[in-house]
Amino acid sequence: MAIDRVLSGMRPTGNLHLGHYNGVLKNWIRLQHEQECLFFVADWHALTTHYDTPEIIEESVWEMVIDWLAAGVDPASATIFIQSRVPEHAELHTLLSMITPLSWLERVPTYKDQQEKLASKDLSTYGFLGYPLLQSADILIYKANQVPVGEDQIPHIEFTREIARRFNHIYGKEKGFEEKAEAAIKKLGSKRGALYEELRMAYQTSGDEEALESARALIEEQQGMSMGDKERLLGYLEGGGKIILVEPEYSLMPASKMPGLDGQKMSKSYNNTISLRENVDSVAKKIKTMPTDPARVRRTDPGDPEKCPVWQLHEVYSDKATQEWVQVGCRTAGIGCIECKTPVIESVLAELKPIQERAAQYAEDPTLVKNIVAEGCEKARKLARETMRDVRDAMGLNYS
Ligand code: TRP
Ligand code: SF4
Repeated sequence: MAIDRVLSGMRPTGNLHLGHYNGVLKNWIRLQHEQECLFFVADWHALTTHYDTPEIIEESVWEMVIDWLAAGVDPASATIFIQSRVPEHAELHTLLSMITPLSWLERVPTYKDQQEKLASKDLSTYGFLGYPLLQSADILIYKANQVPVGEDQIPHIEFTREIARRFNHIYGKEKGFEEKAEAAIKKLGSKRGALYEELRMAYQTSGDEEALESARALIEEQQGMSMGDKERLLGYLEGGGKIILVEPEYSLMPASKMPGLDGQKMSKSYNNTISLRENVDSVAKKIKTMPTDPARVRRTDPGDPEKCPVWQLHEVYSDKATQEWVQVGCRTAGIGCIECKTPVIESVLAELKPIQERAAQYAEDPTLVKNIVAEGCEKARKLARETMRDVRDAMGLNYS
């Protein structure tokens, strides 16, 4: 593929915190300058687990968009939208459900894991079981080929790939495919057509991946050729039928090293977070009251940074010199814990300051935020409609 289209979504289930910022948002912000990016609020996904607390969703959607914008997601580079405002996702989900074996859904590891983890909720619902398929629809509807995810989401992307393959296998076999593909080759012109044939042979006879890539690029670059013909040529390269849905790749986001206030991973469920809009006093208080190495009872007791959650924050936020100061000072009881925490407080506040300033500006101007999202939804819908046209066509729904 000539250009990567990146898609990622986040559930609106509460305030975003430094864990989201360091784990996800910084990645999005980097990616938005490198590739075409679509970022969406996964409100239907939130309902799969929070169906009984819709108020959380309602409250969180706009706040989350404000957090994204404040963190630096740039609507001039990335398309920001809300899942439920692009109802085509639901249509694709329904259509894909027709070909999705139940056993594939039951096999997705998050299904049983989450049911066990959230045992207080009744998650024996149809929506919860089908949630990975809804995610597949989110991805496939944009023909997104790059999905940045955390480790836990990898099985969902693999599942999506299997669904795309199954779909293409069932519906990609149009009548007279080979003749149509041959006719499309002619449309490339004699020189490029010959090059296509040569690359196709190289791939099919010796599995030459580079030839495959070059042939794909050749097709992508071709001006004035219909999408249908491009898809035929892509499918013909690999010997199969037409490629209607694109198999996505995932890019594993570097695991967030963001520790929470207690040394566990920062997460709302551990109640150890600093939210992006936490006020200055609260940030200072939370860090000042963080537990430290339990062996340091008195100021004169030496400590061990390896046994202290504050040190983990120094690893994220402090430069080498400060880290050295902590290592030596802690082990020799040269510094006290409050003293040790001061630079962390300062760094966290420095990181939050510009974010909070931008958040305040957006919060004051709800119309601006709504316009950004409305525009994003419009753009997303246009892409989604194109895919749905092909899908309906393939599934016998374009009759008049
Ligand atoms: N399932 C993701 C999560 O819970 C959110 C999500 C929904 C998503 N659809 C997606 C992520 C599509 C990437 C691509 O975090
Ligand atoms: Fe932790 Fe710093 Fe205290 Fe050592 S000096 S125990 S690293 S807070």
